[in-house]
Amino acid sequence: MAVERTFSMIKPDATHRNLTGAITKMLEDAGLRVIGSKRVWMGLRDAEDFYAIHRERPFFAELTEFMSSGPTIVQVLKGENAIARNRYIMGATNPAEAAKGTIRRTFALSITKNSIHGSDTPETAESEISYWFSKTEIVG
Ligand code: CMP
Repeated sequence: MAVERTFSMIKPDATHRNLTGAITKMLEDAGLRVIGSKRVWMGLRDAEDFYAIHRERPFFAELTEFMSSGPTIVQVLKGENAIARNRYIMGATNPAEAAKGTIRRTFALSITKNSIHGSDTPETAESEISYWFSKTEIVG
């Protein structure tokens, strides 16, 4: 198995409910190591840039307004098969479809307020990491 890096973002619904530690513990318990982490309150422009791939989707405005409505924790995670491992522990995008024991099934409120984001491919992981982090902010 390859050691990979992936990007994760704990969303405003979760930081608002003080779940940063609980969610990070689930990531760590799943075998992922946090090698970069910071708390950011993104503006609407950053949310629109970050989620540009979804610009034409009907949920784009709701998504970007929500993502700029409060603090998020952006993280770089490292581990064996980190991208798939992270997506497994996050659970399905829609919490109603997420498996028991996953982060979204445990904490998410809705498909928009779904507590966490994670990269879906190695290319997306690297571009999302470099959107939020400089090289010196990633250690490990
Ligand atoms: P995320 O993994 O951050 O990627 C895009 C986000 O859009 C997704 O999680 C959801 O929070 C949000 N979203 C809102 N509505 C939908 C929808 N109908 N289908 C997919 N994603 C949605």
